[in-house]
Parts: sequence; C-alpha cells; structure tokens
Amino acid sequence: MAHRSQKNIITSLKSARIDFGLTQQQLAKKTGVPRTTISKIEAGFRNTTVNTILDLAKAVNLDLRLVKQEVLRKTKNMERGFTTLNNVYIDSAAILSNYNFFKNKFKNKDIWPVLKANAYGHGIEPITTILSKVKPTFMVVDSYYEALQIWKISPNQQILLIGALSPHNYPNINFTKISLTVFDISSLKYLGKLNKEVRIHLKVNTGFNRQGIKLDQIEKFCIELKKYPQVKLEGLMSHLANADEPDDKFTKSQEKEFDQVIKLITSHGLKPKHIHLSATAGSFTANDSSSNAIRLGIGLYGYNPLPHNHAQYNKIKIRPALTIASSITNIINIKKGDQVSYNGTYKASKDMKVGVLPLGYFEVFDRKLSNQGVVKFKDTTCPIIGNICMNMTTFDLKNLKAQLYDTVKVISTNPADKNSIYQIAKMTETIPYEVLTRINQNIRRNII
Ligand SMILES: Cc1ncc(COP(=O)(O)O)c(C=O)c1O
Repeated sequence: MAHRSQKNIITSLKSARIDFGLTQQQLAKKTGVPRTTISKIEAGFRNTTVNTILDLAKAVNLDLRLVKQEVLRKTKNMERGFTTLNNVYIDSAAILSNYNFFKNKFKNKDIWPVLKANAYGHGIEPITTILSKVKPTFMVVDSYYEALQIWKISPNQQILLIGALSPHNYPNINFTKISLTVFDISSLKYLGKLNKEVRIHLKVNTGFNRQGIKLDQIEKFCIELKKYPQVKLEGLMSHLANADEPDDKFTKSQEKEFDQVIKLITSHGLKPKHIHLSATAGSFTANDSSSNAIRLGIGLYGYNPLPHNHAQYNKIKIRPALTIASSITNIINIKKGDQVSYNGTYKASKDMKVGVLPLGYFEVFDRKLSNQGVVKFKDTTCPIIGNICMNMTTFDLKNLKAQLYDTVKVISTNPADKNSIYQIAKMTETIPYEVLTRINQNIRRNII
C-alpha cells in the first residue's frame, strides 16, 4: 500500500494504523501484539523489542526496511542514552523522611537543605527534584553555578549562597531569587553600588576563624549598611566549629558571642528576618535559642555527624539514601601465585575467580581501599583485591556464579555494611562528608 506520509510512518506507527483504517484493538488481533503494547509504542518506542514493532509495521504494510532502520536508530540512541554500567540510586523516601525528621523535631525553626558539593555527592538535580515536594524557604549552595543547577529543576526556588563570590560577577546575578552571604565590608560596598535591591545574610565570625565579620567590626558594618538602602539585611548567621564534640564549651562561647552580635545589630534598628547558627550537629548539641533556621547538610542525606559516644547520638533518627551499583565487565580465572592489578599487591593463594568493575578512584573508590574495601555480590561480601585503578576495580568473586553485566553493590545504605559510607570513611581515615562529596558527578543519578 502506498502511503501518504512515509516520514510519519517511520516516526509514528499510529498514523500508519489510522491510515490503514484499524483501531488499536483490531491491530492487536491481527498481530497478536497486546493492545497496551501498541498504545505504548504509539506514545514513543520505549521498552519495546524491534521485532514487535516490525510485526506491527508489517501488519499495516509499512516499508519494513525503512522502519527497521528508523527503529534501530532510535533504539541505539535510547541505549546510548539510557544504559550505564555504574549507577547512583537515591532513595527519595529516605531524603524526605530525614527532612521531615528535622522539621518535626524543630517545629519552631525553618529547615534549609544544603545542596552544596553536588548535594553531598547525591546530585543537585535529583535532590532538588525530591525536595520540590516540600518547598523549602531556601536551598543553600556554595556557588552560583549550583544555584543555576537548582533552577533548572525548580525555577522559582529561593537560594542562599554561602560561598565566596567575586564581586565582578554581581552585575550578572539574578538577585530576585538569591540571597548572598556577606563576610566583609568591602563586598557590602560593592553590592551597595549596584543600585539594585539585594538581600544579604551577614556572616559573623564567632570563633571559627575562616569567614565572617568579628564582633568588633559589627558596628562599622551597621554604619556602612545604612548608606545603602537597597541592600536589605535579611539574615544573620554564624557557623559552629566544634558542634559534633561531646565537650560543648567552645559551642557555648560561640553562642554567647553570636547573642552579643544580635543585640548590637538590634540596637542599630536592624531586624534580620532569619537568624541561623546550626548545621546538623549543632541542631542537636547547641542551645540555639536565638535562631529560627537550621542549615541542614549531612543529616538530610542520612548521616549522623556525632560520634557514637555523644549523648545525643541516638536521638538523631535518619537513614542514608545513597546506593551505588556497578556491573561486572570481566571475569578472569587465575591460578595460585598469579598477581592482580598494578604492582602485584595481591597474589592469589589459590586458584580463583576475579571480577572486574568499570569504576575506580576516578569514580568513587579511594585508592586506600585497595586490598581493604569490599563490594557486595548476591548478598555476599567480596573483598577488593589488588590496587584500585583509575577506572577499574578488581574483586574476589569467590565461588559465586556470575555472568557479565551482573550487578554488584559498591556502596550500601546499611551503616553496618563494610561498603557503607561510614565504614569506608573509617577505613580511609576521613569523614563521611569527604567520601560522599568525592563521588564523581559523571555517574548517573537515579531517583528510586
Ligand atoms: C556554613 C555552613 N552551614 C551549613 C553546613 C552544613 O553542615 P552539615 O553538613 O554538618 O549539616 C555547612 C557545611 O559545610 C556550612 O559550611
């Protein structure tokens, strides 16, 4: 049958079916392809085998050669676009449950999720997508680039930028959706000269000695601020240095100084709407009576920043949300005495089976995990053997039945597992923050 629009036929079987005078039901009967499958194919070729499409195309007298070409092209594109050997999975229920835990625990405070450092390695886009349900007052980022990523998903989200920013960029910033943190009087002067309404949060150095204006400069800051009516002091903040320690002496001294600053600011007739001091640890360990918001970082992602022996440790009821899965891309049988990977740091003590994963220190594993870390295959813990490479890792497949492209769990959400973020941090002598934020951005993030 000659067809009036060959192009249409190739890109959509629907038009061909209609031209052929068949309902979906009739075409289903004619081909044996279920009607629901036809309906899915007509909505776009996803999740459909080429043969099914060809059966349908044949039934409506399409040019099979062209259809085949087109379908294969689409399928190939889909495969290229949709299949990755390494995957990060983010459990949206865990993120929301962690967020709500803090929200319910601190009812008189606003909870602002911190999405800096690629949302602690989880991915800014998936975390923004998940949090779009709870509509936080602010999402907190370190850089303007991170704000742009958030706006791709939630274009109207208000952002608090807490990192340093070159004043040269001020003219290019969309100040209607962002509040800047000001750490010094010179940035205030730059902002004041823009002649635009700008909202700022003043960061006070109460003893961290990294960023912020000290108590003895506050007076000067207030006087300067009054020169620029377009610069609105929306927030006042500081950051605690030792909030995760059982001894709270230093936290108390920081709080005392912060309260002095609040008094001083108030005496100048300034009334910042948002006062915030604590991050995850401080929310449980500081008095925090003057503030009305918490900048929630690590706790949002389900990691407890307090040491086990801290009196508050068990009160933080959260769970990790991030899993990483990889795929076996090679299986090698080696003999007793054979070496594995660079420099032969592993020598087989018996004949054995080695699995290869397509990720290494570029993607996720600290090289210190060579001959130390583990992965999980079919619920069995399998040691990483030999030196971790840039993009590959070798592990002991034990006597497990394995096939190419079988899934291997690289990072577990269970804190007790040897391949959890907590245990990896311990083995590599660092903190969960560092392990998380080093997870390469290139690995696809999937929300589950
Ligand atoms: C200023 C500031 N606020 C909040 C946070 C979030 O801290 P946490 O992840 O411990 O909740 C950080 C983290 O580095 C920070 O620098």
